[in-house]
Amino acid sequence: MDRLSAEGYQTDKGANYLAYYESFFSPHRHRAVNLLELGIHRGGSLQMWRDYFTYGQIFGVDLNPVAIPESSRIHTFVGDVGDLGIFQRIEAETGVGVFDIIIDDASHTGAGVRTSFEHLFPERLAPGGIYVIEDWGTAYMKDWPDGMAYKAAPGTNGHGGFASHEAGVAGYVKCLTDHVARADIGVGGGRIEAHPIEFMTIAPGLVFIKKSP
Ligand SMILES: C[S@@+](CC[C@H](N)C(=O)[O-])C[C@H]1O[C@@H](n2cnc3c(N)ncnc32)[C@H](O)[C@@H]1O
Repeated sequence: MDRLSAEGYQTDKGANYLAYYESFFSPHRHRAVNLLELGIHRGGSLQMWRDYFTYGQIFGVDLNPVAIPESSRIHTFVGDVGDLGIFQRIEAETGVGVFDIIIDDASHTGAGVRTSFEHLFPERLAPGGIYVIEDWGTAYMKDWPDGMAYKAAPGTNGHGGFASHEAGVAGYVKCLTDHVARADIGVGGGRIEAHPIEFMTIAPGLVFIKKSP
């Protein structure tokens, strides 16, 4: 493929998502990246990543087994990503325990996304690596398990606080912005046990979080 395209692959990643992925991933296309995707469903995205990253090793985890044709560059595992032992198993079975790219396309709930990020970002993402949170807009869906129709929780009156939607993945993503501000937090006399986030890009449906080198 010339540019990242989902044509011919069984994935729900739309053109709007792929344009953002292309802009972040194209510099790494021909490198021997290790990519981990949480949530496989029909397997199409793993096949798409394999064909896009010409030397990439592609790893995926899902609650359900997926039948995709054998490939020497795709490694699938059945398990709950909330059970952190699954990542030890991947390392034990493949020798790969640290990834250059991690995509969370699994639970799309604030608690699930947080559990994965808090473990994988520090422990299993390479320095300079990219972590992606997909479908954070579920937070605005009233029928989603931890979503709700847009409602701005009140800000802290008198201290320049602004009202903001705090539910679900959106609420967690907003927490992560504090980690980006760790230098200023220190200057201002505050303290935070911050993740080494170099920067974060928040796009419709997608968050890209770059780990400091
Ligand atoms: C949106 S689909 C993944 C789509 C796929 N990444 C793609 O782009 O084609 C979400 C998948 O996450 C899986 N999933 C949800 N919660 C999970 C969990 N806690 N652990 C592992 N897989 C989970 C579901 O079984 C489902 O197959």
